Amino acid sequence: MKKLILYGLIGLFALQMKAQNIPIPLYLDDSKPIEVRVEDALSRLTLEEKIAMIHAQSKFSTPGVPRLGIPEIWMSDGPHGVRMEIDWDTWNHAGWTNDSCTAFPALTCLAATFNPELSMKYGNAVGEEARFRKKDIILGPGVNIYRTPMNGRNFEYMGEDPYLASKMVVPYIKGVQQNGVSACLKHFALNNQELWRGHIDVEISDRALYEIYLPAFKAGVMAGGVWTVMGSYNKYRGQYCSHHERLIDQILKGEWKYDGIVVTDWGSAHDTREAALYGLDVEMGTWTNGLTWGESFAYDNYYLSKPYLKMIEKGELPISTLDDKVRRVLRLNFRTNMDRKRPFGSFATQEHAEISRKIAEEGIVLMKNTNNFFPIVKDRYKKIVVIGENATRSLTVGGGSSELKVKKEVSPLEGLKAKYGADKVFYTMGYGSGPSVYDNFIPSPYNTDSLKREALALAKDADVVLFIGGLNKSFQQDCEGADRISYDLPFGQNELIADLLKINKNTGVILISGNAVAMPWLDKVPALIQSWYLGSEAGNATANVISGDVNPSGKLPFSIPRKLEDNGAISFGAISYPGDSIRQVYKEDILVGYRWHDTKKIPALFPFGYGLSYTTFDYGKITTDKKEYSKDDIIKVSFTLSNNGGIDGAESVQLYASQNKPSLVRPAKELKAFKKVYLKSGESKTVELTLPVRDLAFFDDKAHSWVVESDKFTLHCGTSSADIKSSIVLEVK
Ligand code: GLC
Repeated sequence: MKKLILYGLIGLFALQMKAQNIPIPLYLDDSKPIEVRVEDALSRLTLEEKIAMIHAQSKFSTPGVPRLGIPEIWMSDGPHGVRMEIDWDTWNHAGWTNDSCTAFPALTCLAATFNPELSMKYGNAVGEEARFRKKDIILGPGVNIYRTPMNGRNFEYMGEDPYLASKMVVPYIKGVQQNGVSACLKHFALNNQELWRGHIDVEISDRALYEIYLPAFKAGVMAGGVWTVMGSYNKYRGQYCSHHERLIDQILKGEWKYDGIVVTDWGSAHDTREAALYGLDVEMGTWTNGLTWGESFAYDNYYLSKPYLKMIEKGELPISTLDDKVRRVLRLNFRTNMDRKRPFGSFATQEHAEISRKIAEEGIVLMKNTNNFFPIVKDRYKKIVVIGENATRSLTVGGGSSELKVKKEVSPLEGLKAKYGADKVFYTMGYGSGPSVYDNFIPSPYNTDSLKREALALAKDADVVLFIGGLNKSFQQDCEGADRISYDLPFGQNELIADLLKINKNTGVILISGNAVAMPWLDKVPALIQSWYLGSEAGNATANVISGDVNPSGKLPFSIPRKLEDNGAISFGAISYPGDSIRQVYKEDILVGYRWHDTKKIPALFPFGYGLSYTTFDYGKITTDKKEYSKDDIIKVSFTLSNNGGIDGAESVQLYASQNKPSLVRPAKELKAFKKVYLKSGESKTVELTLPVRDLAFFDDKAHSWVVESDKFTLHCGTSSADIKSSIVLEVK
């Protein structure tokens, strides 16, 4: 009986509701356009609620609006995977047991694949993991240009060329955001070193700014549709980049019409008025535990918190500056955690591991391979000796905010044992670097001599020796917050390699790093591989390439100078890099990387775009569809590529352009197109590349516009920036 009455009451209520037809509030109705929802939500907010939405409530979250059901926004690092959960108020790990993720390769490795399709897969997989971990923003990708080999964070970025970085960053962003998670393009802008990153004031020409340092950000915004951009710590022209009138208001939100949020780097806000007026939308912080680190770090005292509220109440700042920020935050809510149709993600799956391994395999670069050293096919040798700490050291921990807690990390040694059999692979460390710390240098606790003696003894009668070394994720290595202090391999590796070669000529070197290093032993070593921080599947990818199960196809995303002084920025001395601790001048200007090496005729030890294969490729002569072009034309380039080396493989062909008589200085050549071509053994393909004439422009800083001059241009088709197979001259009228 009771049930009958209950059902009756419910029915009555529903009828009454229907009759009254009580509409759901517009902002909650995801059948309505986002802009309608934004305006409706904005109209309902109090001043205090608006202020609350634009700054941190914890290390990685903002509070939303509990009264209206507008959710908190949760963020997580980092570009290579979803960081372990961090404490509410400190930088400590929260110690959860459900947050061990898939580690994907560092972004230098992704860039080295020269494969935009893999970048889409990468972004989607990271987006799925972030979605599953209930994160609304993943704090990556970083696209700061590789200006010198000393920058501690180069491993997190996509190399020295703005075109490569632009083409590789867009699919990553789309891949992430199709999961209803925001990517976060960082660090905007001119954060090209870690030393004094918190305040160094960069001086740079408009040509270098627009031609080298902005393009990847512009692509991420205008082609990638990124929903979050992170301001950098440093200054530019005397103003902090996180609230910068020119960078954010005039360029990002003005010229590029960016409609997403600008979030600080952690603690990179310094002034309420500037933050209000120059486009900072959300303030996050460092040392932000308002509980024990004292009143000054409490969230209520953030620049965009009480101080901002007071200035608005006193009429010192218009409320319109606040409403614009809140509109952008609401837009992010509706694009992410208030979109009920977004997918649900997945976490640490076999599928993600396979994507991680595929990217690793396609990013590994074969640098030198004489007397058929590689591939080491199975059963070729009985005693394979592996030397070097990077064969076993975890390289997913450390490095700063891109640190990860992984479900799995297959080391190179484990991968090699699985490939060849544990009975054929023998290991000793050879050198040791000590624990991974980010904020100071701890000398190696190992006795170098005894480690070396053991290594030489083991290598003596080896059939083949694989030295696996390089840099690691410790302070003053490949690590956030500090730059390298030497161009050399650390911990006595150079001496060890030289001694190993004396005792066993059949010694190959595999370097794992995110930066170029000096290679004094190069002439004596028969084979060299440039590997990267490959993530969860490092060992399997490494073993697949070494054994020939995978034919390497990676190409260098940055130049490797013979000596440090051959790097453009370094060659201008301290004021250029690292600056005088207050300011620095980008004196090499537009001549970054191969642009420097080619134009100044200072050949790199290994050039941008370089990478060998186990097979060989033959390039036919390039042709173009016309001889003369108008400025709105698309140039069609084609040539035949043949695989005549007997093994299936892939080649990333590159197209560079030079202008004959430019009215301003231009680099000898600039990358304008590339394509990864897969060819079976013996197969030939006609490769077609297109190049809009508009892309031949340079940035005229006087006219503040991109200019294509009527002139002759030469297109160079190459297998690297320094190895041009054929060229063709065309005319732009
Ligand atoms: C760090 C990094 C930034 C990271 C943020 C949160 O200082 O510069 O890349 O996303 O703080 O950890």
